Amino acid sequence: MRYTTMTTAIIIQARMGSTRLPGKMMMNVAGIPLNEYVISRVKQSQKVNTIILATGNGNENAILLQEAARQGIVGFAGSEDDVLDRYYQAALLANASIVVRITGDCPFIDPTIIDAVISLFENSNVDYISTNHPATFPDGYDVEVFSSDAMEKAWKEATIPSDREHVTPYIWRNDTLFTKINYAHNEDLSSLRVTIDEPEDLEFVNKILKLTPIKNHRLTDIISVIRAHPELTQINNEFERNEGYARSLAKDQEFSQVDDRKKWIRSTSLLARAKKLIPTASQTYSKSYNYFCEGASPAFLAKGKNGYVWDVDRNQFIDFVLGLGPITIGYANEEVNNAIINQLSNGISFSLPIELELKLAEKLIEIIPCAEMVKFVKNGSDATAAAVRLARAYTGKEVVLCSGYHGYQDWYIGSTENNKGVPVDVQKLVKKFEYNNIESVKKLFEDHQGDVAAVILEPCQAEGPNKGFLEKLKELTHQYGALLIFDEVVSGFRMALGGAQEVYAITPDLASFGKGIANGASLSIIAGRADIMKLIDHGVFISTTFGGEATCLAAALKTIEILERPNSFPHILSLGNKWINAIKQMIEEKGLREYVEVYGVSPHAGPTFKTVGPIHSHDLFTIYQQTLIENNILSVGVNNFCLTHTDEDIQKLIDAANKGLDLVAQAIKTGDPDSLIKGEKFRPIFGRRSS
Ligand SMILES: Cc1ncc(COP(=O)(O)O)c(C=O)c1O
Repeated sequence: MRYTTMTTAIIIQARMGSTRLPGKMMMNVAGIPLNEYVISRVKQSQKVNTIILATGNGNENAILLQEAARQGIVGFAGSEDDVLDRYYQAALLANASIVVRITGDCPFIDPTIIDAVISLFENSNVDYISTNHPATFPDGYDVEVFSSDAMEKAWKEATIPSDREHVTPYIWRNDTLFTKINYAHNEDLSSLRVTIDEPEDLEFVNKILKLTPIKNHRLTDIISVIRAHPELTQINNEFERNEGYARSLAKDQEFSQVDDRKKWIRSTSLLARAKKLIPTASQTYSKSYNYFCEGASPAFLAKGKNGYVWDVDRNQFIDFVLGLGPITIGYANEEVNNAIINQLSNGISFSLPIELELKLAEKLIEIIPCAEMVKFVKNGSDATAAAVRLARAYTGKEVVLCSGYHGYQDWYIGSTENNKGVPVDVQKLVKKFEYNNIESVKKLFEDHQGDVAAVILEPCQAEGPNKGFLEKLKELTHQYGALLIFDEVVSGFRMALGGAQEVYAITPDLASFGKGIANGASLSIIAGRADIMKLIDHGVFISTTFGGEATCLAAALKTIEILERPNSFPHILSLGNKWINAIKQMIEEKGLREYVEVYGVSPHAGPTFKTVGPIHSHDLFTIYQQTLIENNILSVGVNNFCLTHTDEDIQKLIDAANKGLDLVAQAIKTGDPDSLIKGEKFRPIFGRRSS
């Protein structure tokens, strides 16, 4: 008796837009609309907690929601075609553990049969019971009962259209994944048809009902009437049982030939829902559908392992985005996971500092050249904002010179075109200089004599610093009484453990780190000279509840331990080098230098595309990226590499990029990129490197 204390929901699927009999749910059955007739019968079930009418979210179905309310049951509008998703969402709404599926076009549905199948389900240890595998009841008495767990599994895994449209085929087709039994009638009545799909069905049902003396009729009553009037069956006996499902199967064939649609069915459905609930349907602009040729790309991922990810449609990709940088070792790394799990069992957040904070601080001070003291925050934006505040407090000045992207806080984003909501006075305090152009920095120092608090930059941009640039920058900055801040959110824990400052042997006054420090867990740090950092004790307010959150600290310590092993960085860097050499060579060989250049330094590098005349960089990038996706590579152009990527993975990236660049060359040659683009074009919300 596994299920007796759980919530049982009958979900009646119904919609107005039926292809064979549009509007049938409001058509007249024995003097009332079909939906009302069905609901009144379902309400007679003794074993059910909730009844939901689940319809599609098209406007024409609004009347069914009103009808549901009028009849005192729950109305729910969900996906039109992905009825499995509609059921899943409706069941979540009811918090149902047992789901009973009824279709709204079955006016004879028999509550005693519904209850019998639910009882059998409650007393059997199976995932699914129905009356129609094989069918013995007349068409129109179908009842299916299944666990919400089984439905969730199907919801997660089913991809072909018929499985999504007909809710349960994924469950009853897959004997190895689900346990099932059939609830059979003692006599095979499967040739009789009392469902309503066609106008003739409606005529037949109404004629039978006129001859039925009992209001709350049961199967036996209807069978008696049909047997007494066999001639009536001729009204609708030309129609096949399960014609709708058969048509869906035909669509599956068509669908399997159109590979792209097969690939993104769940992504498409989730994206449609997310667009209504979450601005840009993502928490990070650069992970949103605008950045991944919508319609020809996955929109949602489900899981990752090492260098691979799987999307919600179970397509596998080699991932060179790596969460936009945080994954340095690989997804779901066992050692890092175990460190997190061990910490979890002792607690996540505490009321006093914990020793782990000290251990991590000691480690960071050992590996980061500028770090005499450190402070933990949560994301890169926190860390850059804190460093800038410290510099302003230390120098007593307010102007900041910057180069690169530094996060979403007012101080920086006010200087970009995405500055809505940032006070104008704040916007005026930040000025941009050109990377590798010391003269541009000099000019700003001269224009803002005595006002500059700090120079902050991503120390490794484009192909890295020109010889002497960082040295001169440090000298100039100090000469004008300002502080030098390295924003190492990207370069830290990726180029080397100590970041770009270790690689280029230039020690800034302060630095911010984030992304790669904890293999995907959320942690960032401000590091720097003790005399500056100590201001946090003296009026510079940098404090956040989750700064010392313990699982991230445990993840960071383990990540650093793994990255410190002798072969770790050599492996990651060699993958990056192999890629950079190959992409540079391909660009040359294909004569694409005018349109494509390589941005970055190993292991964070890749092609960026340029607008030349009428050929737009976004179109070229879309063609390139969509080709990579077709070859099961996830990339945003400039790639990241992790410890668990292999040489074979890089070769697959190179092969896919080769095909992508061939198509880019073709688009340039024909002058018609649009003809090669299969989804929406890349539409970035902000240009990371241009700002
Ligand atoms: C160089 C740099 N600094 C700061 C940030 C902001 O980090 P976060 O997005 O974690 O706030 C980013 C994010 O991409 C970055 O690349």
